[in-house]
Amino acid sequence: MRIIGTGSAHPKRTLTNDELSKMMDTNDAWIRERTGICTRQVITDEHLEDLAAEAAQQALDDAGIEGKQIDYIICSNVVNEYVTPSLASIVEGKIEALCPCVDLNAACTGFIYAIDFAEALLQTDRATNILVMAAEEPTRMVNWDDRSTCVLFGDGAGAMVVTKGDDLKAIKVSSKSNLDVLHYKRLLEPSPFITKEEEHKPLYMAGQEVFKTAVTSSLRDLLSVLDEAGLNKEDISYYILHQANFRINDFIRNRFGVDTEKFPINVNKYGNSSSASVPMLLDELNRTGRLKKGDMLAFSAFGAGFTSGACIVEWNK
Ligand code: UT7
Repeated sequence: MRIIGTGSAHPKRTLTNDELSKMMDTNDAWIRERTGICTRQVITDEHLEDLAAEAAQQALDDAGIEGKQIDYIICSNVVNEYVTPSLASIVEGKIEALCPCVDLNAACTGFIYAIDFAEALLQTDRATNILVMAAEEPTRMVNWDDRSTCVLFGDGAGAMVVTKGDDLKAIKVSSKSNLDVLHYKRLLEPSPFITKEEEHKPLYMAGQEVFKTAVTSSLRDLLSVLDEAGLNKEDISYYILHQANFRINDFIRNRFGVDTEKFPINVNKYGNSSSASVPMLLDELNRTGRLKKGDMLAFSAFGAGFTSGACIVEWNK
């Protein structure tokens, strides 16, 4: 694959740490020190599908193509207002595309999985231009009385258009089932036949467990794709990591012994926007002119499952 366009969209409402400290027993210092987060953008009157379509349209404009030239849409998403149809199908209509559409849910790792699927479609000549995107509203999953999780998240969407090319140098995705550390259980419609007890459970996260697993899996995945691509840590121009917690990314950066400029962050502005964080950060780097032809980009993400994944892509836009 080759990346030919990127886009992103954020809800308009900025929620600061100080505002949170008026809603619950928390404070700016705790949140900053433990996570690096200062503000996050949260959905208010927007609909996630509109943000997703906005990110998609930006990616199309950046690629210089129209919706009708897209022949597959893959959207990573955990929750949105529609259980069905897929978010990808809703975006399809908004960008005037006409093509196969599918959502995938690999939690915060979803964007890396979407890249894996896109590459397979391109390699097997099933598609030429693919919209690979992620749109998430984790602020609709958290318990706003649970200070240990609700302060961490923000909403948003990121997208890229990929076409045929030779720029994906290595990719690895994995999953090891573990409901105990991170899960969210929705309440379904009642049926006359249900005999089991059901309860809605907002997002549950065993923070420290997830932290440890995140660091271990991200390090493992990055080393694996570097090895597969025959590259050294220093050969990577930017490590575009899932923006969950600044400390996780800085720990990895320290272990790699590379400069802070190579580990861009925006978790300070957006919080953890689940699988949308990687394409949102990619778009920010693209739009601020920080990417140049030939740059090697390493993506890495982790999340509920427990899933994780990483890949290396040469930037040739
Ligand atoms: O995309 C999904 C992936 N998720 C992640 O990557 C999250 C990974 N985990 C983390 O980022 C960190 O574990 C957290 C930021 C969630 C928590 O940081 P921590 O250093 O692991 O804190 P902790 O859970 O051990 O809690 C330390 C203390 C506790 O108080 P006591 O028991 O020591 O008195 C908590 O009750 O901090 C308390 N605490 C808070 N205090 C103020 C928890 N949340 C808050 C809060 N404000 N918001």
